[in-house]
Amino acid sequence: MKTTFSPCINRLLHSKTPSEEVASVKEVGQIYSQLLNQISLDKNSIDQTTIAGGVALSPQHAMDCLHDSIRTARLLKRVFKALKSVKKNNGAKIEILYAGCGPLATLIMPLLHLFSSKEMSITLLDIHSESINSVRNIAYKLQYQDFFKDFIVCDATQYSHGNPIDILITETMDKALTKEPQVTITKHLSSQIRKDGILIPEKITLYHNHTFFAKLPKAIGKDSEIPIRLNLTKEETELFSIDKNINGENFNYQSDVIQVPENFRNTPDICIYTTIKVFDDVILYPCESLITNPYCIHNLHSIEDDSYKLVYASYPQPSWSVKETI
Ligand SMILES: C[S@@+](CC[C@H](N)C(=O)[O-])C[C@H]1O[C@@H](n2cnc3c(N)ncnc32)[C@H](O)[C@@H]1O
Repeated sequence: MKTTFSPCINRLLHSKTPSEEVASVKEVGQIYSQLLNQISLDKNSIDQTTIAGGVALSPQHAMDCLHDSIRTARLLKRVFKALKSVKKNNGAKIEILYAGCGPLATLIMPLLHLFSSKEMSITLLDIHSESINSVRNIAYKLQYQDFFKDFIVCDATQYSHGNPIDILITETMDKALTKEPQVTITKHLSSQIRKDGILIPEKITLYHNHTFFAKLPKAIGKDSEIPIRLNLTKEETELFSIDKNINGENFNYQSDVIQVPENFRNTPDICIYTTIKVFDDVILYPCESLITNPYCIHNLHSIEDDSYKLVYASYPQPSWSVKETI
């Protein structure tokens, strides 16, 4: 029997509720499992790679991102919409770069049966050769090879595409933009997107608040889970956003002065919330996915002054710190 993503992608693209999104991503995972029974990953696939700008997840961990279901469902919907929306003249193909595709190319491979290879030219790129071998094998197995221009093993922060990119897909991030190199990759590759080209995800915004971190819900990234989203209130202060207009040599950020509250017994933790604008009004909210889970930087008890600043550095490793103002 021919393996096909067709029925489950149809359900995914029409899903309206988180439980429908979760159920359809579970089915996508089952199709990938069938494919992977025939295409095995190398044994050393749990090794991650550290580059200037962050850590590239191992092929095994990158594969597991599929099960971060709300993330996967919304990003696939976005990629589908982008592929439908880009119009090219004179038979030119849509130029797509997927940087950090992992071993499954999760955010594009399941959609390809809905398109013709005459419409697009896709480059898949990852730092791990096992991942690129895997996606090449999957593409041939599904007879999708004509969709692909290239399968490249390299560091995305050093890559030059040559042609202007119409759609850049890169999900190489962890919560609060820590650990993984989303910022450095976005900064390097965004300048190669054509003027009205599309970056997926479109915009990542970080907020700050004092909270009781242990009491917050957290997504666990398992495909049976329906995560509980956390709605932002007026209490959260916006820190910064990154989108395709990001610039600057090494992206850094320093907040305004933040006052330590007089009584913080019920809110002792300095916390960062992440939202991801996927497209239009489709948002990944805090706690809905592993990549928008809350992140605790520090405890207010350990701040000696009555105020502090938050500092984010994207380079050499993306991280947060607290700067006391005394
Ligand atoms: C979080 S996983 C996402 C996998 C898949 N794209 C998905 O969305 O399910 C990130 C992937 O990006 C790759 N990656 C991270 N940094 C990279 C870099 N600088 N250059 C190339 N690939 C990178 C990792 O090897 C990993 O496969």
